[in-house]
Amino acid sequence: MAQVLRHIINLFPKEAYANLLVGLGEGDDAAVYKLNDELALIFTADFFAPVVDDPYLYGAIAAANSMSDVYAMGGEVLMALNITCLPPDMPPDIAGAILRGGADKIAEAGGILVGGHTMDDKEPKYGLAVIGTVHPQKVITKAGAKPGDVLILTKPLGTGVITTALKAGLAKEEHIQAAVEVMLRLNRKAARAMQEVGVSAATDITGFGFLGHARDIAIMSGVNLRFYSERIPFIPGAKEYAEQWLFPGGTHSNERFFHPWVRFSSNLTEEEQLLLFDAQTSGGLLIAVPPERASLLVEKLKEEGDGHWVVGEVVEGGGFIEVV
Ligand code: CO
Ligand code: CO
Ligand code: CO
Repeated sequence: MAQVLRHIINLFPKEAYANLLVGLGEGDDAAVYKLNDELALIFTADFFAPVVDDPYLYGAIAAANSMSDVYAMGGEVLMALNITCLPPDMPPDIAGAILRGGADKIAEAGGILVGGHTMDDKEPKYGLAVIGTVHPQKVITKAGAKPGDVLILTKPLGTGVITTALKAGLAKEEHIQAAVEVMLRLNRKAARAMQEVGVSAATDITGFGFLGHARDIAIMSGVNLRFYSERIPFIPGAKEYAEQWLFPGGTHSNERFFHPWVRFSSNLTEEEQLLLFDAQTSGGLLIAVPPERASLLVEKLKEEGDGHWVVGEVVEGGGFIEVV
């Protein structure tokens, strides 16, 4: 796989494309292409199997998750295409509800659904290819974090364990509802707040979990990130299901893959550590903001009714995560 990736990067070397602001080799949330001095396009795609039972909510969550990478780059959604795989024997009203959920979420984002592609598949999958816009000088990447920056998280963690508990028939209704509310929420307001305030770096917390995505910022910015474990927020129920070891497979692979970059110096139990690797769906933004603008960003997020947890700071280093 690494070899294939190298082949592709060599086929499309970034230096050959003067207007490609963010490309494949960089490992950022989405590609960014400059059209002119005022306008750049953000391009991304994502789709996955159902995470909740309700087809309408599944469609809406999948769409919110697909558009999240546009917001992680500081952009706005312009247009989207459906990517849909459905079992041929799925009742039409169920299929319709998935697509309706997605369309309503795109409308809420201010985007336009302009088409898509559907094919047969045993297990349903749904998501979007998305084009967003951003000012070429205001692209927010993972690479700009500086020592001293304050780290702010906009949604609590735990959607992986809660949806796994749901699949096992062990989740409480109130916990499912709390997780669904988190996954449905667009990162749009947080993206706007970032642009108003001016931030150093950002990414969205999805499949690689909180520490996996944080590691990207640390590596790409050439710094260490220090988190205070008692400040990291969780969705109600997440810790309960973690104690019952209801982690999705992705959480375990995240821990296996990312633990060499993480140093725990606080007295966290094994499941509390694992929860910080929990694979998230449609998670929040992790934002690095210069200290003098941190309280302004918190104010803006508060005004918008969005989450605003100050979870740590950027320190000198070289790509590591410290959890204290
Ligand atoms: Co992302
Ligand atoms: Co993505
Ligand atoms: Co970004």
